[in-house]
Amino acid sequence: MSKPKILIARAVFPEVVARLEEYFEVESNQADETWSKAELAARLRDKAGAFTTGGDRIDAGVLAVCPGLKICANMAVGYNNFDLDAMTAAGVLATNAPDVLTETTADFGFALMMATARRITESEHYLRAGQWTKWRYDMFSGSDIHGATLGILGMGRIGQGIAKRGALGFGMKVIYHNRSRLDAALEAECQASYVSKEELLKTADHLVLVLPYSPASHHAIGAAELALMKPTATLVNIARGGIVDDAALAAALKDKRIAAAGLDVFEGEPLVHPDLLDVPNVVLTPHIASATIPTRLAMANLAADNLIAFFTGKKPLTPLNPAVLAIK
Ligand code: DGY
Repeated sequence: MSKPKILIARAVFPEVVARLEEYFEVESNQADETWSKAELAARLRDKAGAFTTGGDRIDAGVLAVCPGLKICANMAVGYNNFDLDAMTAAGVLATNAPDVLTETTADFGFALMMATARRITESEHYLRAGQWTKWRYDMFSGSDIHGATLGILGMGRIGQGIAKRGALGFGMKVIYHNRSRLDAALEAECQASYVSKEELLKTADHLVLVLPYSPASHHAIGAAELALMKPTATLVNIARGGIVDDAALAAALKDKRIAAAGLDVFEGEPLVHPDLLDVPNVVLTPHIASATIPTRLAMANLAADNLIAFFTGKKPLTPLNPAVLAIK
């Protein structure tokens, strides 16, 4: 019997490609070429499954020309590259890769917050540029992490991981805002108190964004929200570009309306708003919050597990629109 055809849309670990080749006829983009949406759609046209990453957009336009497509397995916990309604309407299963990246991403969120608050990259640039000629009592003084108020917007698994690191490791007071409040046991475990979004913005010394992107969270942090923050506060975005209005943030950083920011994700990435590149009080990283080899391998294997389970008649591990399975 012939194997189902799948497309691996981006370069991925060779051992994961080899694993998938045991089950599928695989077309893979190991050259990691940048495909236009039309090219992605053309390559998917004769495929039954797709292994995608967060940059591969699957929407009604793509689905319309891929009638044989049955499943798209994202190697990311975020899935705003999927038009889930369109996929459900077309009977295409969507899966993501949650849990396996939680602790790694929480580590990174914490690292980015510390680098931002303690001005680590800014001071390194100064040193590398040969500008360090003498020590001064106030050079690159930042703000403390220990004992400060940590604000978390979006209290899913990664937000909870950051809360625990702050409360248990650094004696921070943790406040959070989320669409729904955590139950009392989970709040106690995270040592976190629920507050309104406005109170979060006004009170946090360090605010970390970990909420999923959707039209509802577009520009959840814009000029009005930045104006509520303390001038000494820092802002970290490890969630998705588009949650922060990057132009408004660059202006707030330039005018020192907040002290500093740390950004791992950007509107329109890999392009970065030019004004952000011009301000010194921002730490910029290229969407690497989950980037350790064991974690990225676990994410890739989870996406592969979902494809294999689906085509071998088992229940995929992390379906996003399980109603599609019920229909089949
Ligand atoms: C995720 O898993 O959503 C990360 O942002 C990597 O894309």
